[in-house]
Amino acid sequence: MNYKKLKNFPKNFLWGASTSAYQVEGAWNEDGKGLSVIDVKENPEGTSDYKVAADHYHRYKEDIALMAEMGLKAYRFSIAWTRIYPNGTGEINKKGIEFYNNLINELLKYNIEPIVTMYHFDLPYALQQKGGWSNRETIDAFENYAKTLFENFADRVKYWLTINEQNMMILHGTAIGTVDPNMENPEKELYQQNHHMLLAQAKAIKLCHKMCPNAKIGPAPNIVSIYPASSKPEDIIAAHNWSSIRNWLYLDMAVFGRYNSIAWSYMEEKGYTPTILEGDMEILKDAKPDFIAFNYYSTETVAESKGNDLDKMSRKGDQHIVIGEPGVYAGALNPNLQETDFGWFIDPVGFRTTLREINERYNLPLLVTENGLGAYDKLEEGDIINDDYRIDYLRKHIEQAKLAITDGVNLIGYCPWSAIDLVSTHQGIRKRYGFIYVNRDEFDLKDLRRIKKKSFYWYKKVISSNGENLE
Ligand code: BG6
Repeated sequence: MNYKKLKNFPKNFLWGASTSAYQVEGAWNEDGKGLSVIDVKENPEGTSDYKVAADHYHRYKEDIALMAEMGLKAYRFSIAWTRIYPNGTGEINKKGIEFYNNLINELLKYNIEPIVTMYHFDLPYALQQKGGWSNRETIDAFENYAKTLFENFADRVKYWLTINEQNMMILHGTAIGTVDPNMENPEKELYQQNHHMLLAQAKAIKLCHKMCPNAKIGPAPNIVSIYPASSKPEDIIAAHNWSSIRNWLYLDMAVFGRYNSIAWSYMEEKGYTPTILEGDMEILKDAKPDFIAFNYYSTETVAESKGNDLDKMSRKGDQHIVIGEPGVYAGALNPNLQETDFGWFIDPVGFRTTLREINERYNLPLLVTENGLGAYDKLEEGDIINDDYRIDYLRKHIEQAKLAITDGVNLIGYCPWSAIDLVSTHQGIRKRYGFIYVNRDEFDLKDLRRIKKKSFYWYKKVISSNGENLE
């Protein structure tokens, strides 16, 4: 549809930016923090670990002052479960509570709305040693952790996100550390873990509504539109299959409290169906999120399965992600899209499509909690970073968000990844996303000083004009 006039971004739109604890904080073993699965995970050769990251733990005041200067209305960050409960459960670490109290208070000082992710990939290692998400005790540990977060922070935090990218933890469990990479046939285990995470999420949602009537809570998966490689009906079925397995399995459960039928048939066919105990489905049905948060980077394109390994397509230059599963769908290229330096397709229109799809399916407010461009930024003489490619990427996505709002999507906020440079999940610090440059290399920590990129000044204008000035 070509509109004569586009709608404006809503008045209290949450223009924000995002990070996650392990990728930005550093201080991995300070002030009583326990080990998480990330701290013990082997990092790909040649990439940094997360021990120092951007050293935000020690520099949060300076970082928040910069966020305020950029004009952020919201900051989405995660709480490290192991700072609050070093062993996942048991004794509370007061220093951890103190750190997040200080962080939240500092944000509020500048009228920046805190948006808190409760769990972003960094499961306490002590829980992992007892089976992690395969063990139902982790559901109780999460509920107890959620209770502690609400008790301590919900007087100031209104927006809560349960679990970051649960779907990626299941689909790429060996890469993210949810299951042992040496395990034979981890998929069945992963879908059992998925069931337990869904229960943990439902319990946290229920608890949030009981304990904090003014708060809002939602899931935060990675959701993207799936295109068929052609108009061939079989390609359309393949796209539908993959979308149900990759996207809707997670959101149908979060919103409607039921397993998506196509995803369930897939699990049956593969022998992955989880054990469901009496009472589980009631718990899942009983929890309703207030909004849907989601991360969007690029769409995926798939074709009819050939039924063999030719279905599998590796994404170029990426973290060895393979798209395609024999008998279900085949990975395909999309000749209409360009790729980033890291082989991720750039698809702003797909962002609008994704927003429209989620909106139509669930009719809930939407909050974008990640979107951005990972690139090799160059620090030039005079502390200049000309990241025009990032500005271009974000501008095109914001334009599409505006179109989606005109389409009727109830979009309440946009938090690009990332507020500040941080260590990427698989490619170290060299793959940068931030508006603020952190002066360090993969292994040379240099002075870690903060430098405003060109995109910093650009985003500041976007925010101050409420999305009207994208030049
Ligand atoms: C999302 C995660 O998957 O994508 C972030 O929630 C991550 O933690 C981001 O950093 C970008 O991915 P990557 O692999 O480039 O860091």
